[in-house]
Amino acid sequence: MQDKYYLTTAIDYVNGVPHIGHAYEKILADIIIRHKRQLTDNAYMLTGTDEHGIKIQKTAAKRGITPKQLCDENFSQFEKAWKTLEISYDKIIRTTDEQHKKVVKQIFKKLLLNGDIYKHSYTGLYCSGCESFLNPKDLTPDGLCPDHQKKPEEVTEENYFFRLTKYKDKIADYIKSHPDFIVPSIRVNEILNQLENIEDISVSRTRESVEWGIEVPDDPSQTIYVWIDALSNYITAIGYDTENPSDKFKTLWPCDVHVIGKDIIKFHSIYWIAILMSLGLELPKTIFAHGWITIDRSKMSKSLGNVIAPKDILDEFHLEKPDAFRYYMASAALIGKDGNYSDESFKEKVNADLANNIGNLLNRTLNMLVKYFNGEIKPEFITTPDSNIAVLANNTSKTVIDCFNKFEIGEAANAVVSFADTVNKYVTDTAPWSLAKENKMLECAKVLYTVLEAMRYIAVMLYPFCPNIAGDILSQLNIKPDFKYNTLKWGGISQGMLIKKENIKPVFVRLDSELALDKKKG
Ligand code: MSP
Repeated sequence: MQDKYYLTTAIDYVNGVPHIGHAYEKILADIIIRHKRQLTDNAYMLTGTDEHGIKIQKTAAKRGITPKQLCDENFSQFEKAWKTLEISYDKIIRTTDEQHKKVVKQIFKKLLLNGDIYKHSYTGLYCSGCESFLNPKDLTPDGLCPDHQKKPEEVTEENYFFRLTKYKDKIADYIKSHPDFIVPSIRVNEILNQLENIEDISVSRTRESVEWGIEVPDDPSQTIYVWIDALSNYITAIGYDTENPSDKFKTLWPCDVHVIGKDIIKFHSIYWIAILMSLGLELPKTIFAHGWITIDRSKMSKSLGNVIAPKDILDEFHLEKPDAFRYYMASAALIGKDGNYSDESFKEKVNADLANNIGNLLNRTLNMLVKYFNGEIKPEFITTPDSNIAVLANNTSKTVIDCFNKFEIGEAANAVVSFADTVNKYVTDTAPWSLAKENKMLECAKVLYTVLEAMRYIAVMLYPFCPNIAGDILSQLNIKPDFKYNTLKWGGISQGMLIKKENIKPVFVRLDSELALDKKKG
């Protein structure tokens, strides 16, 4: 058992409201942390919001409100969305928090005292979408930012610069000698190539050009670059302080995984690592870069009008709990690949896996147990751990843990569903209803017991994805809601367990397509 697990997500810009792209990342992260909590008592998840920078300043100005008002308004939208999706973070940090601002200044000062920050006059192309200067080589043939399709602004300023070039070789060595550092590994070459062409980076902006930010210590004419401010959240949130770091920081750092989108790997695997090296801190173990979610195969954008909030999807399908959406998002893409959301595939996937496969399996088995055995498990029904299903249950739980260790979240979900598939086939093949008809009651009882034990395994393995459905499964099995992996030993359902007819309920009701379509039209 690991003694601690520290996971962070990217912190979202609050110049807009949460959409399903943000939700995708927080769901993946939440699924990982819930899984880790099944294995260790000290698993900690940090999320937050990135509240400084020119984008927020401009959006607020357009709306005629202060940047802080805009941040407060949108922060509460993020908080609400994460509550709806049952994101179980331990802390949500805002970069406008006083403690964060204080420590970011300390960090800047320490980098300056180390000789890693110097002042320099510079002309560059700034993309406010990226909140970053762009290398002219990386622009599209029309001179646009490839990610935001916007022409970057030419900016000439005297700024503070960070000696990124000093750390170039050390970072390359670290990446090459730590195969688990960048996940998925297909991204490694891309980062090593970017590292080849790296230059020192500007880590401040003049106050005239960016007012909404943390002041450079002892130089009120400059604002700290928003990425230095933002990346530092991973340590300020858990009590880092250049003088006297907290016990929590000492326990949790280094971070086990930074969960981020593929668009911001450079900031995490190059900039952040150089800052940590300069601060003399340990480096994160893994940067897990997930792919992007499109809507009906198009990139989400305000101009296309296809930005969907997670709550809209739950409302559209009359879902009170987020389980189905969480499950779908987790399996929408295989590791690091892009995924797509469409109403149609959402409905198909969750109906097939959660209602038809897992839900029905439990339902019909419990009904048979009530019909043939008054819902009671007798000692002689209990099967030994060497049956094919029992062995497969144990192997599947190992596969799931293994997938999580490799951040193959969609693959972990697939392993659970494929196990449920096999158990369904086992029911069809053994036909307990025929065994009952032939009065082979002990054989019939053993089949039902085997399936219910398999269901118990499914509940535990499904828990990080669908916490409510997993809870309902255990509750119908009359088992207390303990989802720790150490409960997974064959034979956990003990004799005397009693299921009453009236307690049998579908754990997931099929999404009704007509209802959803009607609602959309209306
Ligand atoms: N504020 C920075 C991150 C700073 S981390 C120290 C930022 N914010 S963001 O709001 O633009 O994005 C937040 C996260 O959401 C990023 O990891 C980004 O990749 C992710 N996503 C934003 N849109 C997305 C999709 N359409 N699909 C999947 N993830 C997406 O970047």
